[in-house]
Amino acid sequence: MLDRVKVSPSVLAADFTQLHAELDRVGDADYIHFDVMDGHFVPNHSFGPHILMAVKRSTDALLDVHLMVTNPDDVIDWYVDAGADIVSVHLEAADDLPAIINRLHERGALAGVVINPPTPVQELESVIDLVDIVLIMSVNPGFGGQSFIEGTYDKVRELRRMCERHGVDPLIEVDGGVTLSNARALGEAGATVLVAGSAVFKAEDPSMIVRELRELGTIGMQAREG
Ligand code: DX5
Ligand code: ZN
Repeated sequence: MLDRVKVSPSVLAADFTQLHAELDRVGDADYIHFDVMDGHFVPNHSFGPHILMAVKRSTDALLDVHLMVTNPDDVIDWYVDAGADIVSVHLEAADDLPAIINRLHERGALAGVVINPPTPVQELESVIDLVDIVLIMSVNPGFGGQSFIEGTYDKVRELRRMCERHGVDPLIEVDGGVTLSNARALGEAGATVLVAGSAVFKAEDPSMIVRELRELGTIGMQAREG
C-alpha cells in the first residue's frame, strides 16, 4: 500500500524551447509522463525516443511512457532503451498484451495497460494479474488541455473492486483534465497516480501545483482507506 499519491506531470504541455528548464520547474515530481502519439492510433503526433533521452538527461524522476500507437510491440524496446521506467500500452491497440507485459518485465521495466473512455473496465479482467499499473484515460487521447470526463470516478472505483477480487494492487493512474479541483475525489475513488499536463506546466509555480495535487490526492486516498 502506498503512503501517498504520486504525481506525473505530462511533458506534452511543456514549452519545448526550454525543456530542461521546464523539467526543473516541476520540482520533486514522482514521475514524468511522456505521451507518444503516432498519428494512427490518435489523430496527432508528439515525440519519440530521442526526445525521451533528452528528458532522461534533464530529470531524476522516473519516466512514465504512455504509448498511443498502433502495433506497440514494434516500439516498446525503443523506449526501454531510451530510459523508460514504466511503459503503458493501450488495450485497444495491443494484439498480445501478455507477451508485451512479459517483454517489458524481461527488460526490467514496469508494465502498464491503458483504457480509453469508451472501453469498459471489465476488459482488464484477463490482464489485471499481470500488470504493474493501470491507466484510465479521463479524456479521449490525442490532445492536452481537454475537460475531465466525470464518468472516470466510477471506472476507478470499479477497477479498485476488480483489484480487490483478484488480490492485486497495481498503481492506478488517471490521465486527462486532472486539476486541483478533482485530485482529492480521484484519490478517494482509488487513483494512486495523477497525470497532469496543463494544470502543472501552464501554472506560474509548477512545483507548487505538483505538491498540491499530491496532498489533495493523498487526503482523498486516506479518506477512502478510512
Ligand atoms: C492525452 C495525453 C495526456 C495529456 C494530459 O492524450 O495522454 O497525458 O498530456 O494533458 P492535460 O492534463 O492538459 O489534460
Ligand atoms: Zn498520457
